[in-house]
Amino acid sequence: MQPIRSFVRRGGRVTGAQERALAEVWPRFGVEYAPEILDLDGLFGRRAPRILEIGFGNGDTLVELAARRPEADFIGVEVHPPGVGRCLLGIESQSLTNVRVISHDAVEVLGRMIPDASLDEVLLYFPDPWPKKRHHKRRIVQPEFAELVARKIAPGGAWRLATDWAPYAAHMLEVLTAAPGFVNAASGGGFVPRPDSRPETKFERRGQRLGHEVFDLEFRRR
Ligand SMILES: C[S@@+](CC[C@H](N)C(=O)[O-])C[C@H]1O[C@@H](n2cnc3c(N)ncnc32)[C@H](O)[C@@H]1O
Repeated sequence: MQPIRSFVRRGGRVTGAQERALAEVWPRFGVEYAPEILDLDGLFGRRAPRILEIGFGNGDTLVELAARRPEADFIGVEVHPPGVGRCLLGIESQSLTNVRVISHDAVEVLGRMIPDASLDEVLLYFPDPWPKKRHHKRRIVQPEFAELVARKIAPGGAWRLATDWAPYAAHMLEVLTAAPGFVNAASGGGFVPRPDSRPETKFERRGQRLGHEVFDLEFRRR
């Protein structure tokens, strides 16, 4: 049986520049999917705080955060080839050394490649909202997924999320509040104020144009 995926493989045009990046920059920063646990210290050549972004889109957040925080290492996971190409171009133009990119389903990457308790932060910004009821099962935030993320975050680490789709925000809050591995960082048990540290992305701007409110969540690993 095929697992239910949180994405559909979209074609999407890969530009000439992105194609070059996928051929020339990928060998240095790309990590091929394999169902084997990674040696993260070996991969980055050092021991450092580790942050993983799920579904980085064009990589705007990943590249900006990695440039801002050279003392930390960033792993980006995204399935859309043009986005991966865009991200690699950003890594190259900013001469970053602290980013690695995996082009595969983040559920499998977390489950098969990321060591337990190895991440300081997991970022999930503007995941596909799957608004239709019959598609809700495709939403990446589900109780089993929260368990998986909890296993990968070190104690005291954080899972940060944002969405501009109010019903998905409510669903995230419900699932994470019920997840035994996490405690809500928001004092009232709801959403947190927009963190200054979160760069604005294309999807956030799109949501704003549509008049959507943006909801931020932060849950700490117990
Ligand atoms: C709505 S976009 C948001 C992109 C970006 N985070 C932003 O804020 O601009 C959601 C992205 O998640 C990716 N995605 C969805 N499910 C995924 C999965 N299981 N593994 C990796 N990427 C996934 C999609 O390809 C898409 O690029």
